[in-house]
Amino acid sequence: MTLRFPDGFLWGAATASYQIEGGVSEDGRGTSIWDTFSHTPGKIYRGDTGDIACDHYHRLEDLDLMAELGLKAYRFSVAWPRIQPDGSGVANQKGLDFYRRIVDGLRDRSIEPMLTLYHWDLPQALEDRGGWTSRETSERFAEYAGIVSEALGGSVGSWITLNEPWVSAWMGYGIGVHAPGISDTSNALAATHHLLLGHGLAMEKMRSLGYGDNQLGITLNLADVRPASEDPADAEAARRVDGNANRLYLDPLFRGSYPEDMLEHYRAESDFDFVRDGDLEIISQPMDFLGVNYYMRHTVVDGARGSDLRTAMRFADLNAATVLPEGVETTAMGWPVEPDGFKELLIRLHREYTQAPIYITENGCAVHDYVDPEGGVDDEERIAFLDSYFRAAREAVEQGVDLKGYMVWSFLDNFEWAEGYSKRFGLIYVDYGTQRRVPKASARWYSEVIRRNGFEDN
Ligand code: FCB
Repeated sequence: MTLRFPDGFLWGAATASYQIEGGVSEDGRGTSIWDTFSHTPGKIYRGDTGDIACDHYHRLEDLDLMAELGLKAYRFSVAWPRIQPDGSGVANQKGLDFYRRIVDGLRDRSIEPMLTLYHWDLPQALEDRGGWTSRETSERFAEYAGIVSEALGGSVGSWITLNEPWVSAWMGYGIGVHAPGISDTSNALAATHHLLLGHGLAMEKMRSLGYGDNQLGITLNLADVRPASEDPADAEAARRVDGNANRLYLDPLFRGSYPEDMLEHYRAESDFDFVRDGDLEIISQPMDFLGVNYYMRHTVVDGARGSDLRTAMRFADLNAATVLPEGVETTAMGWPVEPDGFKELLIRLHREYTQAPIYITENGCAVHDYVDPEGGVDDEERIAFLDSYFRAAREAVEQGVDLKGYMVWSFLDNFEWAEGYSKRFGLIYVDYGTQRRVPKASARWYSEVIRRNGFEDN
C-alpha cells in the first residue's frame, strides 16, 4: 500500500544565504554579522567561514540539480547585506538581480520559490547600532522587506519574514554561540521582541504593496517538550523550557500576549519596557501560514538533577537541562530521533494555536557522510530518518493538521554555523575543495517519494 500525501503537497528542500552562497565581496554586498563572527578566532569549528561555502553565488547550475531531483519547491533566503549593504537606504540593484535570476531560474524549471527574508545575516552596520536589541532594526527590516517585495512580489508567492527568531535571539544575544556573540538574557528578551515586531511591521509593509495573493508567514523552530520523570520539579522545568522555546513566540504571534509565567520568570532580568502600546497588535496580525522547523524533542529535567545524567543541552537561565532517553538514537549532531514528538507538536499547534496552513520549512539530520570507493554516498541513516518523520507528518495530517508542504533541510551540505563544515545535512554531498556535487542515496530516495507523492507502507 502506498501512503499518500494530500494532492498538491509541496515537497521541496531548503537552504540559507550565508550557508551556501560564498561570494561575500561580490557585486556590492556589505558585511554581515556572520562575516564578522566567523572571522573572530575561536567562534567557529576550525575557524571555518562562509567566504566560499558552496560557491552557489557562481553556480546557478544548482537549479538543474533541483530539477533533476524533481523538487516542487525550493526555500532559499535573501542576504540582506546584498540588498542594503549598510542596512538602510536605496537598494543595491546587483543584489536584487542575483535573486531575480534564482527566481526566474526556478520558474523556468517549474519549481515554486519560497523566499525567506531573514536567515540571520544581519548587516553589520545595524549591529553596530544595537542590532536586534534596538527597535530601529525592526523598522529597517520592514523597509528592507518592502524593497524585496517590490522587486520580486510578482514572481514569488510564498514569503517568510524571519527564520527562527528563537535562535537569533537566544543563540545570538543570550548564549552568544552565534553571531553577534552576546551573552545577556535581557538582550535576548529585547531581541525577541524586536524580531517579532520586525516580522509584524514587515507583514504590514508587504501587504500594503498590493500583491494580494502572496502568502505571508513566519518560520519558528519549535520542539515537543516533556518532563523526563513524574517528579514535579521536572514538570516545572519542562514548563519553563516550553515557555522559552515555544510559547514566548507562539503566544505573541497567535494570542497577542507574552506568556504570564515567562514575564514572571524573567522579572529580574527585564521589565519588558521595550513593549510599546500597539506592538502586540502588530505582531499578532493574521498570517497566511505558519512555517515550522522541527529537529528534536526536549526531554527535560530540573537543573539540579541535570549534572549526573546524559545531558544533551542546558538552559542556564531556565534551571533546566535536556536528557537523552534510554535507547533513543541520535544524529551526528547528537540530537535525539523521536518522530512521535514531531506528530505531537503538529497536533498541538493545530489544536491550541492556529488553523492556518502549516509548512514544514525545515526538517532533516546530520550524518557522517563520505563518498565511498564506488563514488556514491550511501546515507541510509538519512533515509531512515526522513522516512520516519514523513510518516509522523502524515499521521498528523490524518488527525486534521492542515499540512501543505515539507522542505527537507538541506538541499546541499553547507556551512553549519558554529559547527562550520563538519556537519553534513544535505541531500547532495558537496566536496568543498572542488565544489563537486554528488547526489546522495537519500536524494534518489526522496525523488521517488516526490514522484509518487508518498511511499510504500512496509
Ligand atoms: C536550523 C537552521 C538552519 C540549519 C539547521 C540545521 O536551526 O535554521 O540554518 O542550520 O538548523
